[in-house]
Amino acid sequence: IWISGELRVSCLILIGMMGAGKTTVGKELARRRKLRFADCDHEIIARTGVSIPTIFEIEGEEGFRRRETHMMDELTQEPDIVIATGGGVVLSPLNRELMRTRGVVVYLNVPPQILYERTRHDRNRPLLQVDNPRQRIEELFQQRDPLYREVAHLIIEGGRGNPGTMVRMIENALQKLWPAEPEDELMRTLNVALGERAYPIHIGRGLLERADLILPQLKTKRVAIVTND
Ligand code: S3P
Repeated sequence: IWISGELRVSCLILIGMMGAGKTTVGKELARRRKLRFADCDHEIIARTGVSIPTIFEIEGEEGFRRRETHMMDELTQEPDIVIATGGGVVLSPLNRELMRTRGVVVYLNVPPQILYERTRHDRNRPLLQVDNPRQRIEELFQQRDPLYREVAHLIIEGGRGNPGTMVRMIENALQKLWPAEPEDELMRTLNVALGERAYPIHIGRGLLERADLILPQLKTKRVAIVTND
């Protein structure tokens, strides 16, 4: 396995417990940054053609971990990618080394109580199919939290915040690392030429957070905002 010395911002790796929101946050980040999104578990499912519980059943956790390391080795060599990992990816020192040296690692830190609420009806996570899943999550959290912290370049406190909030927190924190988009691409203005009733339309990604760009443009009392944020 090859490990490069340089830190690539174009490879963003989300780590954290089951139910922390890695997949949801990862998909949204990738969409906004125009990067490819890959979920390590889903890639393994696609490759093997069977579910995660089936892999655990046939090959045990050990077999699954081997596949996970191979997949992480492949994914972390792809350019322009956001990777959502499985919660146990940090258990292997090799995975930790791979992640830390090949990408920017973001830990979504969510308290065990919330993780439990989010995963309690899930049958797809073999490690939680036990009599007392609440206690199991607490144990796994105690064991893994120090490892997540060890490998993370950035820690996002998840709490009850929705995925959108976490996405924005990550984007803000990484702003310095990501190359800034040229100013003229941030906002484009179209003029709807209707004589006296003419009006401008300002279009751009993330504009609602850029009051400094919009406010100087507003000449009328009323504005309409169309957003999918
Ligand atoms: C695991 C987490 C799962 C999956 C497997 C093992 C873990 O991924 O990789 O069930 O050890 O925490 P998610 O974190 O996406 O649920």
